[in-house]
Amino acid sequence: MRKDVRILLVGEPKVGKTSLIMSLVGEEFPEEVPLRAEEITIPADVTPERVPTHIVDYSGTQVSLFVTVLVYCAAGDVHIGFLCVYVGMHRVPLILVGNKSDLVEHSSMETILPIMNQYSEIETCVECSAKNLKNISELFYYAQKAVLHPTGPLYCPEEKE
Ligand code: GTP
Ligand code: MG
Repeated sequence: MRKDVRILLVGEPKVGKTSLIMSLVGEEFPEEVPLRAEEITIPADVTPERVPTHIVDYSGTQVSLFVTVLVYCAAGDVHIGFLCVYVGMHRVPLILVGNKSDLVEHSSMETILPIMNQYSEIETCVECSAKNLKNISELFYYAQKAVLHPTGPLYCPEEKE
């Protein structure tokens, strides 16, 4: 059976979704990014889990696929309401990503942990920086892992009749 993984990045404007994708692909922080990155496909043999992986930048018309990476700004106020509404609506495995960790000393984990405990869909949370390339490849690896080895039941659109 051929498997592939689709990773969709969502989040509020300007949290750095496009920059994270471009940092992963280009291995350096892009000073200028388009609003939305083209969908990219990473061939199986260069991914840690050996599955072809598609990375999709957020588009308002395209909602959840299989795994969702919700990006928030670790350097700003965490908008818990937004996170909860999103997580509650989409019963898919989810990774919470606090980007721009280069801008702050403190961690946003204290705010995030109660949310994580509340929703079983959240597999992992990670703080990263597209700018310093910190935890970038890790976050995409966690996203792959969340689909391939989920800790909770997976939502499967075909089986939902
Ligand atoms: P929309 O497509 O408008 O929703 O934004 P986005 O989430 O794709 O954010 P984008 O990648 O366009 O980045 C927004 C701004 O944040 C840009 O000026 C980036 O250079 C900056 N930025 C992104 N990631 C980081 C980071 O890790 N650290 C810092 N300091 N700035 C970042
Ligand atoms: Mg963008």
